[in-house]
Parts: sequence; C-alpha cells; structure tokens
Amino acid sequence: MCGIVGMVSNRQCAHILLDNLRRLEYRGYDSAGIATLHEGDFNILRSEGKLVRLAQAVQEADPAGTTGIGHTRWATHGRPSEQNAHPHRFKDTVVVHNGIIENYNKIKERLADKGHHFSSETDSEIIAHLIQQEYEVDPDSGFPEAVRRGLLRLHGSFAVAVMHRKLPDLIVVARHMSPLVVGLAEGESFVASDVPALLSCTRDVIFLEDHEMAVLRRSGISLMSVSDGTAVHRETKHVSWTPAMAEKGGFKHFMLKEMHEQPRGVTDTLRPRLGLASGQVLFEELDGLLDRVQDFDRVCIIACGTSYHAGLIGKWYIEEFARVPVDVEVASEFRYRNPLVSSRHLIIAVSQSGETADTLAAAKEAQSKGAAVVTICNVVDSSLPRMSDATIYTYAGPEIGVASTKAFTCQMAVLLLFSLWLAQKRGNIPAPRLHALLEEIAELPSKMEDVMGRSKAVQSVAHRYIHSRSMLYLGRGLSFPMALEGALKLKELSYIHAEGYPAGEMKHGPIALIDDTVPSVFIVPQGPTYEKTVSNIEEIKSRGGPVLAVAMEGEKRVAQIADAVFYIPECTELLHPFLSVLPLQLFSYYVADLKGTDVDQPRNLAKSVTVE
Ligand code: G6P
Repeated sequence: MCGIVGMVSNRQCAHILLDNLRRLEYRGYDSAGIATLHEGDFNILRSEGKLVRLAQAVQEADPAGTTGIGHTRWATHGRPSEQNAHPHRFKDTVVVHNGIIENYNKIKERLADKGHHFSSETDSEIIAHLIQQEYEVDPDSGFPEAVRRGLLRLHGSFAVAVMHRKLPDLIVVARHMSPLVVGLAEGESFVASDVPALLSCTRDVIFLEDHEMAVLRRSGISLMSVSDGTAVHRETKHVSWTPAMAEKGGFKHFMLKEMHEQPRGVTDTLRPRLGLASGQVLFEELDGLLDRVQDFDRVCIIACGTSYHAGLIGKWYIEEFARVPVDVEVASEFRYRNPLVSSRHLIIAVSQSGETADTLAAAKEAQSKGAAVVTICNVVDSSLPRMSDATIYTYAGPEIGVASTKAFTCQMAVLLLFSLWLAQKRGNIPAPRLHALLEEIAELPSKMEDVMGRSKAVQSVAHRYIHSRSMLYLGRGLSFPMALEGALKLKELSYIHAEGYPAGEMKHGPIALIDDTVPSVFIVPQGPTYEKTVSNIEEIKSRGGPVLAVAMEGEKRVAQIADAVFYIPECTELLHPFLSVLPLQLFSYYVADLKGTDVDQPRNLAKSVTVE
C-alpha cells in the first residue's frame, strides 16, 4: 500500500510526478503529497483526500524544480490528514515511505529524549530524522551512506525515497519487503512503487530486491546493498506493457475497461500454453519442477481476496483432473497457525500483484518447510515470483481498478490449465479426453466476448437494486466461489452488504434473512445440481424474496420464477465460472456507478496490500 514516485531530470517535475502518482493511486488514496527541490529549497505540497485535491494545489502553486518525490497514502499509523501526509521533512531531509516501521516507537522515544520534535503521528517521519542525524554526524561519507546507515536501524518493511535540500539532482531510494522499481531514460532517472507509474516516462526498468538501495542521478542509476554498501549489478529490463495499457482508453472507469479486456486477457494467457496441435498443456516455466511432480501428495493454494476465490475454483479443477487433494487457505490464516507442510507439498500462491504481504509471508513459510512454491501472478518480477520455485504469469495486462476483474479470470484460466498439466504429467488423464478439453477451452474467449456483449441487459436492471441494504449470493459446486466473488464485488464497490453462501446451506441460516427487501442472486449452471438449485430459488420466492439469476441461454424454468435473468451462452460446468462471473462483475459495477460510489477506488481499500 501507498505509492511512491520520484524523478531526477532537466524537466520541471511537479506535473509529471502528479501524473505518475495518478497511476499509483490504486495503492492508497487517503492523502497525497509531493516535494520538489528548487534553488536550494523544497516546495512541499500535501493534501488530505484523493489526488485530485493535490492536483488543485499543484495547479495553483505550480512549484518549480527538476528533482522531486511524491506519495499517495493508505493510512497505517496516523489517521488520514494533511499533517500525516507524505513527504515528511526534518531539517534538510525529506522522505516518502511505504510500509510499516515496527520499532518506530522506540526510535521516536530515543529521538525525543535528544530533543527532536515530530509534526505527524506517522511511523515514517522518524526516517527523515534518522537520516538527517546520520548525515550531520558524518557528512564526508556522503548522503547515500547516511541513508544506508539510517535504514539499518529500522525493523519492518519499507520502500523509501529520500532527498536532501543541499544536494540537487539526487534521490536515494531503498526497499525492504515493499516493492520499488527504478526507471532509466536519456538524462533522467525515475522511481516508482510499480511499473504503470513509469510507463509514460520509460519502459527500461530495474526491479530492486529486498535490502537494496539505488542512487538516482540525471546521469544514471547505481545500485548497492543496504547491508554493507557494496555495489550491486543488475540488467535493465524492457517491459512490454505500453503507456496506453495504463490509461482508461475511453471507458468511464478502469474497472469497466478491464472487465471488457477479459476475453483478450484470457486469450493471451491461454495461447502460449494451449498445445492444440500436440494435445498437450505447455508450461515451460514448470520444467524445473518436473522431477518433483510425482512426489506431491498434497496441493495447498494460498491467496487473499479475489485471488482466494480463484483458488477455490483451482481446488475443484485440480482434484477433478489431477486427483490430488487440495486445500485452499486465506494466506493470513495459513501463516499464523504452524501449518503442516513438507517437501511433498506443492504450494500455489495466487496473487495479481505479487506483493500481498500475507501471501508472500505464507509462501515463504511453506518454502522454508521444504514445499515447492509455484506462483500465479500478473506482475512480472514482483516479490512473489522472485521468491518462488516457478512462476506462471497471467497476461491480463496492468490492472488499475482496485476491484480485481481481468486478473481473476486469467488466474482461473491458469489454474484450469495447471490442473490439466498436472494430470498429464501424473498420467491421470487419457490423451483423447485432454485433447477434447483443450478444444473446449479454446472456445472460452469468444463465449466471454458474447457475455460482455450483453452488458446492457445487466445495466438495465441494476437501478432496481441500488436501495438494497443486503443481498445474498447463492450457488453450488463451482458456482459457490462465484457467489463469494459476486458478493465481494458488490460490497466492495457499492457498500451494500452481501454474503456469498453455498445454495444448499441457505436453509441452515441465511434463509432467515429473506423478505421482500433482501434480494438473492442465484448462479444456476445446467448439470447435476440444477434441480436442487431451482428448488432453492422456489424456497426464496415462496418467502417473498426477490431473485436475480445467472442462467444459460434457452433455460426456461428459472426464467419463469426469477425476477430477472442474466443469460450466458451454453457451456459445460467446467467453463461456467468464466462466464457466470462476468454478469456478476457488471452488476456490481452498474449498481455502484448508479449509486455514485468511487468504482475504481472504493473507500478504505487498496489494490496492493503490502501490510499485514
Ligand atoms: C486487495 C485488493 C483485491 C485483491 C486482494 C489480493 O484486497 O483490493 O482486489 O484481490 O488484495 O491481491 P493480490 O494482488 O494478492 O491478488
């Protein structure tokens, strides 16, 4: 959480910093600030609330300076306010920080005993004090060295960018357990928490590793270790994401654009792996695991939020095809209960960002106990891929909307293919069946396109639900995780309470909630549970509850009893989640948009949760 940007350039930087921050706002948006350095003094502008407030301040003040840093905040220590907004300054040092300093209280007390005064409630402000102090004690060894010594006193997680008033054209940055990427261009250097923030300036980047720092100058960037200051050499990477991919492209919201990008994202994710000619699933990225594949006696999928729901679908696929037992665990629960893990376990970490602190910690814990860790991730070279034994990338492209949509369907696509790959490698699936399944999967993107083409039908009923206070989402089998995901989307976007439940469990509790003000959303695939689900709909209707349903084209019975039906094309149960989730996403989007909530940046949330 929190987004950091910075640049050293010949150009005036305030508006560029602001623009780059805009692409990081998904990481936090309760306050923001920038500091630019001009003629030996800082211009610091900070404001509470979303970036648009800072943009107004920048517009009015038009601060000069060709070197600067900026920050968008998701509050951890200290309430959202201008006073707690970054950058924080102490004398000649300004700092922006992402992460949590665990020993900040002790350090603050010690500094206070020495006469230091603090102007914020944050843990971050102490970093400026420590670095300034180190530089005053020994200016001859240079500012980067003072930063390094200051950082060595911190426990916890951090990504920082630091400037000194008397040192123009210099920014020192460092990371430990919070992401940071530096970017190189002709006569300019950049830093940001994430690649989208750099795309309009450069696509040549270097991802910092934990406990590394970098010194940014106009002439270039040098990397070193925070532990001992020794130089670090790393290749520059050219990223394939384009600047246009991080823009809204004519859509009202990033989320709307990203929902419509799903057929393309799933195509890109499937294409290199779907060996239609050979009848094989191709995962070159898993070659390193081949000699362990027969030994796994258990799979454990760990994830948070929407990625956890993809994990629940993954369990179904892997157990169905590879016939290996699978646990799916919320990462924050897994890591704190001394889980039973051994070298015969395969851990699959699912994460759009690759930076979610709980997922990262859970994966590390499992790896330390001998398990192999495979990550399914959307962000190249983020923290999870770097620590994993293997990574399967989703090719959703940058996801900016806080509520995950296209990354989710791409995660499910990878999990489906992975289950078939594992089945193939363990000899659990006959070749003709695998071939038939691959052909069926190849049809998926066009079916998803078809559903997205029906979005107007979803939009036209959304207004009926904007005053609802609570909704139930119900489904069985593969539709239960979709019920959870539909409910999560509705609550996070529209702030309407929603609960996902297995349809068969409804009568053990949630049915008590039903009256004419509590709508239920049923996901109804054809298949073995069809009749039972239809009976559950009848049970709700007979108690006066309004019913919305997602059903297959041609379906007659649900249409007769439900108040509204969102149709999806015919498909097997296997592919049903990919299609049924689309109207659920669209429904939440349209309800939220009609209610006027901030769809791309729902209150209190952040996209990349890098704190525990
Ligand atoms: C946050 C986001 C969710 C996301 C979850 C896990 O809560 O708001 O959209 O599903 O984190 O993120 P990850 O990057 O690990 O998939």
